[in-house]
Amino acid sequence: MHQSVLITGASSGIGEACAIFLAHKGFRVYAAARRLDKLRNLEGIAGGRITPVAMDVTDDESVADAIETITSDGVSLYGLVNNAGVSVMGPIETTPIEEWRRQYETNVFGLVRVTQAVLPMMRAAGRGRIVNIGSIAGRIAAPFQGAYASSKHAVEGVTDALRREVEPMGLKVSLVRPGFINTPFGHQEQESLEAHTAEGEPYAGAVRKFKAWHAKGHPNAPGPNVVAEAVHAALTAEHPYSRYTAPAKNLGPLVMRNLLPSAVADRIFKRLTGLADIEKKPNLGKSDN
Ligand SMILES: NC(=O)c1ccc[n+]([C@@H]2O[C@H](COP(=O)([O-])OP(=O)(O)OC[C@H]3O[C@@H](n4cnc5c(N)ncnc54)[C@H](OP(=O)(O)O)[C@@H]3O)[C@@H](O)[C@H]2O)c1
Repeated sequence: MHQSVLITGASSGIGEACAIFLAHKGFRVYAAARRLDKLRNLEGIAGGRITPVAMDVTDDESVADAIETITSDGVSLYGLVNNAGVSVMGPIETTPIEEWRRQYETNVFGLVRVTQAVLPMMRAAGRGRIVNIGSIAGRIAAPFQGAYASSKHAVEGVTDALRREVEPMGLKVSLVRPGFINTPFGHQEQESLEAHTAEGEPYAGAVRKFKAWHAKGHPNAPGPNVVAEAVHAALTAEHPYSRYTAPAKNLGPLVMRNLLPSAVADRIFKRLTGLADIEKKPNLGKSDN
């Protein structure tokens, strides 16, 4: 009997790569997302071990219906990969509160909602694995990434608390932190930044610089399989780590983050992102800095 795993956000990028990778490794995969048409492309892969499931993680009814569809097959999920995510980028000052809400509704409350829906069957079985997809941004917050980075900081906290709560019941919880990965996510982030570069936007000059730096990140990054490998390890290791970093080279910045004083880290960010070239002066709503 194949172990069953539910992956959210499986219609693209990392989630899709995880679905294919895990199905080839013998898992029965429930691949969930809003775009069912995209999920249907996965149906014939790995001997038909991938089943598409419509799910919007921001919607109670949609999540309940999806879990009902899975369990009505008599399936008890062994694994949950909380991967669905969006990225809202832009200055904290000018990012509308509705956009902050959209960020947290998916990355934080969506993750908690699906976890709550799956935990009763895992507790009843006395076994199960939950793998949350965080980000390097869950430890290191770049400028103009406040909404996204803070949502991933929240995922770090949720993961730590959950791991400690459910360990006595035989359940294991891990966090996988990707760095830049080459998926459509980068386009979404670039579009999100674009809105803040218009003439008259108070941070336009700085956002343009940051956007140019950010544009180089995703196309030159590794593909999503590097994350799928870490997810597989978290689902199958006898004693999984609490955190995996993918690719592993990103451990460097994470270690530095803990060692360097904030003032030094701030200077490194300024250099990396080109913000050091921006003249320090009061900005009275002009966008020419
Ligand atoms: N790519 C990177 O560089 C990177 C780095 C660090 C962390 N991450 C994290 O990795 C995860 C996946 O990102 P990715 O790079 O694979 O991005 P992606 O290619 O844009 O995929 C995002 C997935 O999330 C799904 N999704 C978004 N909102 C949803 C909702 N309300 N309900 C259900 N599914 C939803 C999308 O499916 P539908 O639109 O069909 O619903 C899609 O399948 C995210 O949590 C992201 O924060 C990515």
